[in-house]
Amino acid sequence: MSDFYRMFVAQLKEIYSAEKQEIHLFPEMIQAAKSGELKKWLKIHFEETKNQVKRLEQIGSELKENLGDAQCEAMKGLLKEWMHVVQPHYQDDVQDAAIIAFIQKIKHYEIALYGSLKTFAKHLKKDKIESWLKESIKEEWQIDKKLTEIAEGHHIGDGINCKACKKSA
Ligand SMILES: [Fe+2]
Repeated sequence: MSDFYRMFVAQLKEIYSAEKQEIHLFPEMIQAAKSGELKKWLKIHFEETKNQVKRLEQIGSELKENLGDAQCEAMKGLLKEWMHVVQPHYQDDVQDAAIIAFIQKIKHYEIALYGSLKTFAKHLKKDKIESWLKESIKEEWQIDKKLTEIAEGHHIGDGINCKACKKSA
């Protein structure tokens, strides 16, 4: 096996660990979200994340590699910040704005990883795996876009950020 292939597998282990760690926090994030719209999309992405884990397990069995023997320290660090995100004194929109900012950091990290992984799969001519990784990155892009929409709104002033800024002024 080439170093490039080994490095590909090491990064698959990283995202597999990252996704599994993220899953544990979803029920808490859904509960902490105040707006119905945010809750709804977090529930949708919770299900997508479970599928992403399954997809990675599929990739592991396709490659005959055990992806479960590594811990993603970066995700561990990102998730640790959750303890500062939920603040009982926050007004609802401020709380949701903080939750969205927190989740978008995670999404961007995952998008970076999936982005590299899908190009590595392409170079390794693992077409099926490349298409599975593309499905996951698409879901990450979509939720990231949706969160920006909820935060910023469709028109100036109708997103959570604007309301959060006005009400806590
Ligand atoms: Fe994910």
